[in-house]
Amino acid sequence: MALIPIRRAGDPVLRETARRVRTIDNSIKRLIEDMWETMYDAPGVGLAAPQIGIPLKVIVIDTGEVEPIALVNPEIVKRSGERRLDEGCLSVPGFRGELTRSTKVTARGIDPATGKEVRVKAENNVFAQALEHEIDHVNGILYIDYLSGPEALIPLTDAPEVQR
Ligand code: NI
Repeated sequence: MALIPIRRAGDPVLRETARRVRTIDNSIKRLIEDMWETMYDAPGVGLAAPQIGIPLKVIVIDTGEVEPIALVNPEIVKRSGERRLDEGCLSVPGFRGELTRSTKVTARGIDPATGKEVRVKAENNVFAQALEHEIDHVNGILYIDYLSGPEALIPLTDAPEVQR
């Protein structure tokens, strides 16, 4: 396992549409191990492969609400409802912003441990927010895109903030 430097907003890799993974081979398994290590070290509750410079559709999430999950080729199947949330991102260090996310989220992807498709549902929790946030990352979207303008980006003071 290895700690990989996290790319920051402005890095073009964060704006690419990441490629789908064709085969879950050892290199993908190593990538996921590196992502876990890098995420926990940051620390964050989620990470997408482009954030460590790898433009592939792979995400990891551990919000503490449900079992930690890695998903390959994740996509949103269904979402509904709206809620205003505070959000941060490891690729936008030192800031947070308020934005609108869905209340209910259903996503699907491949579980790298089994190679089988799984569906995950989340409602009104950080996990739902993280699913939307990380799946945005593999589509080249950052949470700051949803803010009304640069003034909506609020500098973090001394309060530790959940980041992903
Ligand atoms: Ni992020």
